[in-house]
Amino acid sequence: MKAVILVGGEGTRLRPLTCNTPKAMVPILNQPFLEHLLRYLKEHGISDAILAMGYLPDPIQSRLGDGSHFGVQISYLVEESPLGTAGAVKNAESFLDEPFIVFNGDVLTEIDLTDMIKRHREINPEVTMALTPVDNPTIYGVVETTATGMVKRFVEKPTWDKVTTNMINAGIYILEPGVLEYIPTSAPCMFEDHVFPKMLKMGKPILSYPSDAYWIDIGTPEKYLKAHHDLLLRWSDRAVRTQGESQIHTTALIEGPVLIGEGCLIAENVQIKGPTVLGPRCQIAASVVMEGVVLWEGTQVEEKTVLRNCVIGSCTHIGSSCQILDDCVLGDDVTVGEESKLASGTRLWPNNYVDPGMLQST
Ligand code: GDD
Ligand code: MG
Repeated sequence: MKAVILVGGEGTRLRPLTCNTPKAMVPILNQPFLEHLLRYLKEHGISDAILAMGYLPDPIQSRLGDGSHFGVQISYLVEESPLGTAGAVKNAESFLDEPFIVFNGDVLTEIDLTDMIKRHREINPEVTMALTPVDNPTIYGVVETTATGMVKRFVEKPTWDKVTTNMINAGIYILEPGVLEYIPTSAPCMFEDHVFPKMLKMGKPILSYPSDAYWIDIGTPEKYLKAHHDLLLRWSDRAVRTQGESQIHTTALIEGPVLIGEGCLIAENVQIKGPTVLGPRCQIAASVVMEGVVLWEGTQVEEKTVLRNCVIGSCTHIGSSCQILDDCVLGDDVTVGEESKLASGTRLWPNNYVDPGMLQST
């Protein structure tokens, strides 16, 4: 079975991390998100992927190439202007003559795709849609089903008064090629707002595939950080893992789960508490304290700075004695002057400069 992976969105909710990096390529445990997805697809026997791209296609194509490294043959399509989730699949029509999978390119999951494919083949609907339970359905597509598991109502991003279930569209579908006939050619069209509601109106069978398996949409900074925390906290040994050579001072106190990319320098009396990830070539000066953070590659943190539950983009420089705490997100190449204290939830765009001693209250 082939998979169409939707990776054309601008990733606006994940800014500033997606200013220079497409959402599908943000690192998860120091590896581009899409590489995790390709591995997952391969594990479920999918070895043919079509990447439907739009925003920042070059970093995707240059990194993944023909996909042979992952044992997956990759074809690329670039939309000149966004075609929407369904329009992007219609655009791939020439590749699709058998049942195929559509995957939102920001979903990290362990849903049993092999079993989902089996169910699709047994019941033979036009669409099989994976569902997952969530706490806040209003930011997703809410899906009501019948007693026999057929989808009866689909409401994209409903207000709370329209929420009737906590089961939402997990962004994974198996489609019969006939579904492509419901999508216009070369015009923007969404599965969520147009195709699924229209199919339900026409009485077309959409089977649900509910699953309790791990699932997260990494498309906001909070979820992106949570995905890291979830993955790291699953390491039963709470280890400190290094990828290649790094220099770690003997007085540094590192409490796992922590992942350290290659070529990092960690100075004396640094305290790092997991769940934390250091990208490759990060430099952490003496007496820095960090907990629950994700640092992208090449970040430098000067002495006595405290970082907690935040995400820091590539090649950012953080001066000494700063405090960058909960839910702060700094883009690439930001400079934060010494003794700055950033309020929770601060967002700094790439190349931003924060004057030394900047105090922000929450
Ligand atoms: N090629 C292409 N073209 N891809 C697109 C386009 C487009 O015009 N628009 C969005 N995408 C891609 C995004 O890059 C992302 O990988 C995926 O489609 C879903 O878009 P999001 O913008 O992340 O949607 P969402 O998270 O708000 O909602 C969707 O996902 C939820 C599950 O995470 C919907 O499908 C919801 O119904 C669903 O519950
Ligand atoms: Mg999303």
